Formats: sequence, C-alpha cells, structure tokens
Amino acid sequence: MVDVEKALDEAGLKNASVREYVAHWAEITGADRVEVVGAADDARLLAEALDAGELQPAGDGLYYSRSFHKDTARSEERTIVATSNPADKGVYNNWRPSSEMKPLLVDLMRGASTGKTMYVVPYLMAPPGSPLERYAAGVELTDSRTVVLHMIRMARVGAQYLDDLEDPDSFVRAVHVTGDLENLGQGTPHDQRYFVTVADERTILHFGSSYGGNALLGKIAHGLRQACYDGWASKAFLAEQFMLLGIVDKETGKRYHVCGGFPSASGKTNLAMTLAPDALGDRYTVEFYGDDIAWLWVNPDDGRVYGMNPENGVFGVAKDTNEKTNPTALDAIRPGSGAIFTNVAYNEDTHEVWWEGKTKHPPADVAGWRDWKGHLISERDPDDQSPWAHPNSRFTTTLANVPNVATNFEDPAGVPIDAIIFGGRTSDREPLVRAIHDIAEGVYDGLTLGAEATFAAEGVDGQLRYDPMSMRPFMAYSEGDYAAHWLDIIGRATDPPIFAHVNWFQRDPEDGHFRWPGYRENLRALLWLVELKDGLVSGRQTPVGVLPLEEELRLDGLEIDDEDLDVILALDLERWCQEMGFREAHLREFQNLPEEIWEAHRRVAAGLEAD
Ligand code: GDP
Ligand code: PGA
Ligand code: MN
Ligand code: MN
Repeated sequence: MVDVEKALDEAGLKNASVREYVAHWAEITGADRVEVVGAADDARLLAEALDAGELQPAGDGLYYSRSFHKDTARSEERTIVATSNPADKGVYNNWRPSSEMKPLLVDLMRGASTGKTMYVVPYLMAPPGSPLERYAAGVELTDSRTVVLHMIRMARVGAQYLDDLEDPDSFVRAVHVTGDLENLGQGTPHDQRYFVTVADERTILHFGSSYGGNALLGKIAHGLRQACYDGWASKAFLAEQFMLLGIVDKETGKRYHVCGGFPSASGKTNLAMTLAPDALGDRYTVEFYGDDIAWLWVNPDDGRVYGMNPENGVFGVAKDTNEKTNPTALDAIRPGSGAIFTNVAYNEDTHEVWWEGKTKHPPADVAGWRDWKGHLISERDPDDQSPWAHPNSRFTTTLANVPNVATNFEDPAGVPIDAIIFGGRTSDREPLVRAIHDIAEGVYDGLTLGAEATFAAEGVDGQLRYDPMSMRPFMAYSEGDYAAHWLDIIGRATDPPIFAHVNWFQRDPEDGHFRWPGYRENLRALLWLVELKDGLVSGRQTPVGVLPLEEELRLDGLEIDDEDLDVILALDLERWCQEMGFREAHLREFQNLPEEIWEAHRRVAAGLEAD
C-alpha cells in the first residue's frame, strides 16, 4: 500500500480536502507511488522521461514525443458531460446522468495504474489574483509523466496555488488514468475510452488516452468544459474557445483588444501570434494574450467586458508553421525553449523534427527520419504518399516563450475587450469581414458559426458543420441556456464590444487558391474593425452586417488580385438566402432558444429578402 500521507507531508500539501481526494484515488487506481509535482520539478522530470524513453531529445532544450497511433486527437464521441439534472442535456454535450457515469469510471480506473506513479499536479487556470481565481484551482492526478510535463507548460503548476483557497474545498478534481492503450478498442463498438466531466460536482474523470487534448485536464476539460458550466451556474462569466490579442497603434497610443472563436484548426493560434505586415511600417504591433481559451466577465466599474487567458502555454498545430506563415511560433519553439513536439516526424540521428509545410519539401536525405508512427522513411513503400507528420501534430511551449506576448499578459485585471469575432473555414459566401453592432445579432452570429465538412461525403454541399461560438466540443449545458447566458453577460456591459464575422478561407472554385493571403495580412481586417468601432470608417450596411469599402481597408503592399478582392468584399445574396434555411434548421435543434435570437434571425432573413 502506497504511503500517501508521507508523500503529501513531504510536499507540504496541507489542504485536508485535497489530501482526502488524493488518498481516495490512490486507493482506486492502485498506483505504486504518489508524487506531488510543480514547475520546479521540470528539469528532473525531463531527465527521467528521457531516461525512460518517453521523450527523445530534439536539439538543445527541445523534446520529442510520440503518442499511441490510435490516440492522436481529441475524441468528441467519447466525451461526456454528466450531471444529476437531465435539463442540462444539450444537443452537443453527450449528457449522461452522473449516477451512471461515476461508477462506470471507477470500475474502469480500478487498479489501472498498478505499477505506476500517480502524479499529483496542483494547478491554477488563471493569473494569480484574478477576479475569477475561485473557479481556477484544480488538482490533476495522472499516471503519465509526459502529461505532467505538458501540464507544467500549459498551466501554472505548484502546491502553492492551493495554499490559500478562499474555500479549501473549491478545487476541481481532475483524474486522468491512461489505461492499456493497445487494448481499448478505439473507434470500435467496444471502445472503452470515457472522457467525463461531472460538471455539477466539479469532477473530471478521463480514462483511455495520453494525448494532450484528452489528458491535459486543466486545459480542455477544466479551462473550457467545466468553466463553461461554472460560468453559467454562478452567472458570473463566460468560458470560450477564443484567442485573445491586443493591437497597439503607436501613432495614436491606442490599444485595442480582440478576442474570438474559430473551430479547432481554423486559425486561432496563428492569428494571436500574427505580426503586423511589413508594408504597414512599424506603426502597429500585435500582442499575444491567448490562442485557445478566454474567460470573459463584465467589470461593473467601467461597464466593459474584460477577458483573460487562463492558460500558461500554447499547444499549437505544427502543420504549415514556417518562417513565412508564422515566424513568431518558430521563435517560441527555438532551442532552449523547453518546447515539446508531439507526433511530428523525427530524425533519430540528428534529433531534428519536421512536419508538412515546415519547408516546401521534406528533407532530401531520409537517413534517420521516422514518420509520426515511428516507421523509418527509408523503408517506406515508394507509393506511400501519407504525411510524415500527423496532421494534428503539435508543439507545446510556454507563453513566456512567445516573442510577442503582451507585457501585461499576467495582469489579473484582464484586458477590456473591444471586439468579439467569429470565423470558420468557408470557401464561399462569407466575406472577409462583416461587423455587427447589435448584441443579439452578434450572439446569433456566433451561434451560427460553422466550418465546412472536411470530406465531400459528409454533409450537404455548401452546408456548414455548425460549431456555435466554436464551443461545440466543449459545450457543457443546453444551447438555449447558453445563448441566454451570453445575452445576460454581454447585456450587462454599458460599453459592449463590437461583434464581427471574419473569413480568411474563401477560395477560387477554378483553381482552389485562397482569395485572401491570410496569416499576418489578417491584421488589415482587424484594423478596419476597430476603426469602425471608433467611428473612423463607416463601411456599408448590408443585411448581414457592415462590410468594408475597398478604400477603407489598409491595402498598402498587399498582393491580391482585383477579382479576388471584389469577391471577398461582396455579398452573394443567393447563397446567403440558402444559408438562412440551413440556419433555421440548425437553431431549431436547440431547446428554449431565447426569443431575442429568433428575432435577430428573422431580422437578418427579412433584410436579405428585401435586398
Ligand atoms: P487553431 O487550431 O484554431 O489554433 O488553428 P491554427 O492557427 O493552428 O491553424 C490551423 C491551420 O490553419 C494551420 O495549418 C495553419 O497554417 C492554417 N491557417 C491559419 N491561419 C490561416 C490563414 O489566415 N490562411 C490560411 N490559408 N491558412 C491558415
Ligand atoms: P486548437 O486547440 O483549437 O488549437 O486545435 C486544441 C484543441 O482544441 O484540441
Ligand atoms: Mn491553436
Ligand atoms: Mn482548441
């Protein structure tokens, strides 16, 4: 029997509720050892992981890891929100009764960490001192050392964060057990993986994965799913899958803050790490606050919406990250940064890493290179055209490593939000940017956010896979209540942000090229938006929002075809009318959708019909 008391005493962990929780799960999971860890243990844990072969060296202070080949992405079908109230069931949250899920998870986890260490990872999902700190503390228990190393990068980790909780019992209990990955029946009818958030008990039970998106419980399960529920239950805040950036205009001294949702793999990390285009001179700088999660609340002192990033790191998509698309990201994973790469290609002789789009062509000399599954490239079937790196391969690095991180990124006060934007991958119809002043129409627009289905076989042509506010995988309660909560929170602001929908992904149907160059050029659309909010430009009103006039957009030095520019600043009425039908069907799926949202829908539809 493992001596839990001794381990907790050595770590100085005094909180009685935490001690009881750790002892309870140590007994169930059957771990051989218990070890309390914090950020100060990073170097030792890295050395141990290298020794054990869990990590490989990837250059000076850089590390490589491979996850099991059937465990490389978040699993939405296996993710469940459980509570004791059936009214919490929504369209997307896979709601189950907690009375059913808790015993099931206890059974799966029983004895499943035998022979392993159970790491106790106390963490805080907020800058210390944040007005939302009471919702931010948690303790992840995990039997994976690589998960600990990721958590140290992605969250603020250490026993000190639990020392002075206002209510000593108010931490999220987050239990992660890897399970026997080779025998879990991933993707079969006998799938044994369960990723459960028991939201009304603030307990997270994840079994059957060691991939970050399923196993870093502070990040996705607490920072998004649990916080989404807590924000609603407390009526105090919103927790969203949003990036958050600042724009500084050095000429006028003005600072703007923009946050917004894009479905996974649609450009949040790249936008937050963007740099001002060279052609705009050095007038603007873009400051990074966050790339995946924002918690938003209203400050009663000035009536503005404030936002903060609860995370401490970046878990970014590697694909297509290069000097041209995202030099900031490359800088953030430079030698000495401590970055960890997952499921990219790896050269075991030179310790280099590579992914599709890092360079135009893969390394010509294939000696020593292995693909993400660990197979030698030199032994590949010559017909095998599959990518060397997994399309969802990732890099993990801390915010402090991001060169454009805002100087006040840890300010507990957060930053006032000027604009909330939504964007997905849409190859036609959706213009470069359209701004929305009305709050209900802005929330309505967020609820109808979507991205195109990725396989032609899935879904109807031109129809989106709707992903409200980009929260589909993280929605913790019913969508109607979620919409009402948004209207309530933003409605409290006397100086609310402007809303907008953006699209970097329109394509020419003839040859498929992106009509907008994207990446750092995206700043041009955001500049127009904040200038519109300040009344410096006026755009043209359309039924779906205000669109920029060509002369209002800062286009200096931009290489873009006239036809492409015309298309992305125009409105395709016919496609929009078709879209309104899809939207209506989409919104009808939700119960108790507030009447204000239906009214917004009808206003937009009537405007389009009149045009
Ligand atoms: P996230 O998952 O929402 O954070 O998205 P990322 O920023 O990691 O981007 C996902 C993928 O979209 C990457 O392969 C990027 O290279 C690509 N991407 C991001 N921004 C743009 C853009 O403005 N234009 C184009 N064409 N691709 C982009
Ligand atoms: P992403 O973040 O949005 O950058 O993909 C990770 C995730 O959502 O799993
Ligand atoms: Mn990202
Ligand atoms: Mn995400």
